[in-house]
Amino acid sequence: MADVEWARELARRLLAERLPRRWAHTQGVAARAAMLAPILGEEAGTLTAAAYLHDIGYAPDLATTGFHPLDGARYLRDVAGADAMLCRLVAHHSCATFEATERGLAETLLSEFPPPERSLLADALTYCDMTTGPDGRHLSVPERLAEIHSRYGPGHLVSRSIAAATPCILAAARAVEAALAQVRQAGAGQEVADPQAH
Ligand SMILES: [Fe+2]
Repeated sequence: MADVEWARELARRLLAERLPRRWAHTQGVAARAAMLAPILGEEAGTLTAAAYLHDIGYAPDLATTGFHPLDGARYLRDVAGADAMLCRLVAHHSCATFEATERGLAETLLSEFPPPERSLLADALTYCDMTTGPDGRHLSVPERLAEIHSRYGPGHLVSRSIAAATPCILAAARAVEAALAQVRQAGAGQEVADPQAH
């Protein structure tokens, strides 16, 4: 749990004052991560820590390439001395390779931060980000994708990247929802929070 508190404090320091809306989003993503604990077991703390850290690359103090997954992961590796898995999760959150390709940074990203093996942990981070709006409110995956398209507008690099990443994002969401359904079935009668609930 110490990792979660460390991650929360680091993200709060980097985002809360300068980028309050991004901090609201981050807190929403972390809250959703906490709800996925039943499917992640021992990795639940890592997911919540990664959720707090996934967007720190937007912080003006550490944005260097302008590609926030890479800037955030480099800061975690070089300045914060974070665990390698946390760096890789942040570097590749929400299928970031697609945007890296659009920006000509795919080789850099992949050589510095090998993608985490396709796992429930990586899928869960993508799911939490892709079901949380910019103000921290819960959205469905299609609502979130539409929100990104409308915020950036047609033809924008981010819109093109998210269109290319959509099958990867949807596959992650399906994997998480299947794991949740399995846990609910196995624990019928026990209370398992429903992350679909608003
Ligand atoms: Fe995010």
